[in-house]
Amino acid sequence: MSRTILVLGKGSQVARELLNAAWPWDIKPIYVGREIDIENQELVIGLARSLRPSLIVNTAAYTAVDKAENEPDAAFATNFEAVVNIGKAAGICGATVIHMSTDYVFDGTGSAPYTETDAVNPQSVYGRSKRAGESGLAAIGVPHVVLRTSTIFSQFERSLLQRVLVRQRLQHDLAGVTDRVICPTSATDLANAIVAIAAALPRVGAAGHGIFHFAGQPATSVFEFITAVVERAAQLGLAPAQRVRPTVAAEWPAAAPRPSNGALDCTKVERVWGIRPQPWRVALDACLQRMAKQTTVAA
Ligand SMILES: NC(=O)c1ccc[n+]([C@@H]2O[C@H](COP(=O)([O-])OP(=O)(O)OC[C@H]3O[C@@H](n4cnc5c(N)ncnc54)[C@H](OP(=O)(O)O)[C@@H]3O)[C@@H](O)[C@H]2O)c1
Repeated sequence: MSRTILVLGKGSQVARELLNAAWPWDIKPIYVGREIDIENQELVIGLARSLRPSLIVNTAAYTAVDKAENEPDAAFATNFEAVVNIGKAAGICGATVIHMSTDYVFDGTGSAPYTETDAVNPQSVYGRSKRAGESGLAAIGVPHVVLRTSTIFSQFERSLLQRVLVRQRLQHDLAGVTDRVICPTSATDLANAIVAIAAALPRVGAAGHGIFHFAGQPATSVFEFITAVVERAAQLGLAPAQRVRPTVAAEWPAAAPRPSNGALDCTKVERVWGIRPQPWRVALDACLQRMAKQTTVAA
């Protein structure tokens, strides 16, 4: 018998990769986008009642980190209240929830990679709203798996990767901070992790519930990541070669504070779920190669 899985946030980087993912034959994913506003409790519960999914994957979120500083109500409505709606809907139809969170729940003052048991202390509105979503889901008491990740990259418009490529193609100044640590994570890798968790859920059960870190390895600086993108994109003919200017966070003012250390320790997800994030350079290469192929086909 096939299992229905409801994927919310059809337009997100991660859901767009889930659309291409190799789901097991007995899983039937149904993708829902903006047509269902997840902030509307009635709509979310009505959808769950009609589809009766065994799993709800929530990739929808308010992700405009800087804008959130001036729009806290909007950020909390999507990242907290809507997550509670999803938890309630899951409770009604007996579904498990896979939800996504962020390294921004940490203040980044630690020097080691963060584990799931480290104390949270979000410094931005976005970080606080995402943390509220994690806690809200736990408070409802439905079975859930929260995947905390770090800087997601993909071939899609909104990703950091595409923003870098656009500037590189236009030969605009490119800079990256050397004093902020991130774990660049491929949306494809995340989609594959979600599929693997969905497939193994009936076997792993309650032992697999809770918060897990899943992010590209090893941790690196924003500068190093942008440099890797620019160099490989030039080699593949996606954009002209260009120098990336090293800078520091203090010279790069942003409305929202970012954790200076966003390194996530991913040993728990490997121990419990048997999945390991790819080295980000391997995943980046695959992503850029795919984009180069698409460009050749389109030309
Ligand atoms: N991007 C990162 O670097 C990063 C890092 C760490 C964690 N995360 C987390 O990972 C998850 C996926 O991120 P992503 O970058 O793939 O997301 P994304 O590309 O920014 O997409 C978010 C999606 O949520 C939808 N959405 C927002 N509010 C909604 C609402 N009220 N009802 C229905 N849909 C709504 C958006 O629709 P519209 O397109 O119509 O606005 C968009 O399609 C999120 O939980 C995010 O917090 C992201």
